Amino acid sequence: MSYLNKLDLHGKRAIVTGGAAGIGASCVDALLEAGASVVIADVNPENLRSASDRLHGRSVTFEQLDVTDRAAVNSLADRLGALDILVNNAGIGRQAPAEEISADEWNKVIDVNLNAVFWCAQAFGRHMIQSRRGSIVNIGSMSGDIVTRPQKNVHYNASKAGVHHITRSLAAEWGEYGVRVNAVAPGFVETPMNSYALRSDTATTAIWLSNTPSGRIGRTDEVASVVLFLASDASSLLTGSIVTADGGYTAW
Ligand code: NAI
Repeated sequence: MSYLNKLDLHGKRAIVTGGAAGIGASCVDALLEAGASVVIADVNPENLRSASDRLHGRSVTFEQLDVTDRAAVNSLADRLGALDILVNNAGIGRQAPAEEISADEWNKVIDVNLNAVFWCAQAFGRHMIQSRRGSIVNIGSMSGDIVTRPQKNVHYNASKAGVHHITRSLAAEWGEYGVRVNAVAPGFVETPMNSYALRSDTATTAIWLSNTPSGRIGRTDEVASVVLFLASDASSLLTGSIVTADGGYTAW
C-alpha cells in the first residue's frame, strides 16, 4: 500500500461550488494537481471568466450556477451524473449587529451558506448513493463552533453551525452507502470575502491576529490541502468529521 497513492485522484470527477475565486479556486487547483477533472460551478460571470483564463488547457469545465436555485442544482447534478467529489464551498460573508439584521439579510445568508449546502449535497449525493461511492467536503468555519470578534454576524455564525451539523447528519445517514461527508472549519483566510478588513480595517485585523496563536492570517492553499485530504482516500476512515484549520484560534 502506498500512502501517497491514496491522494491520487486520477480518473475521479469533482465539482467545486464557488470554485472561481478565493478558497474554492485553490480547492480546484489542489484537485486538478491530484489528477481529478473538475467542474467549477459559480454564480459570478467575471470570476468564471478569470478562472477560465487562468486554467486554460486544464481538465476543467465551467458552469454558471446559483447554488440557492434548487431546480438548477438538481438539473446540473442530473446532467453530470455520478461524481466522486463535491466541495460545497460557495458562501457569503455579511456583518450587522443582531438587532439590526433585516429578514432579507438573514434569509440571504441562510439561503447561500446553509440551504444551498443541503441542496447541493442532496442533489449530488443522490447520484453518489446510487454509485455507492463519493466524498462530500463542506466548507464550514470556526465561526460555526465559536463566536469570533470584533465583527458581529449572528446569521453567518448560525449558518456555519448548521453546515457542521448537516455534515454529521448526512455522514450518519449515508455511511452505509459508502458516501463520506466531512467539513473543514477554516479560521481567517485571505480572500476577497474578508479583504475589507485585511486591506483597510487595521483595528479588526489586529484583533484577529492577536487572537490567533500562529499570529497570521491563513492562505487559501492551506485550506485546500485539507480539502484534498478529505476528498481523497487518504481520509477513508473519516466521515462526520469537522477538521479545524485556524492557526490555533479556537485553542485559546
Ligand atoms: P470569496 O467571496 O472569496 O469566494 C466565494 C466564491 O463563491 C465566489 O467566486 C462567488 O462568486 C461564489 N459564490 C457566492 N455566492 C454564490 C452562489 N449563490 N452560487 C454559486 N457561487 C457563489 O469567499 P471565500 O473567502 O473564498 O469563502 C469560501 C468559503 O469559505 C465560504 O463558504 C466561506 O464562508 C468559507 N470561509 C471563509 C473564510 C475566510 O476567512 N475567507 C473563513 C472560514 C470559512
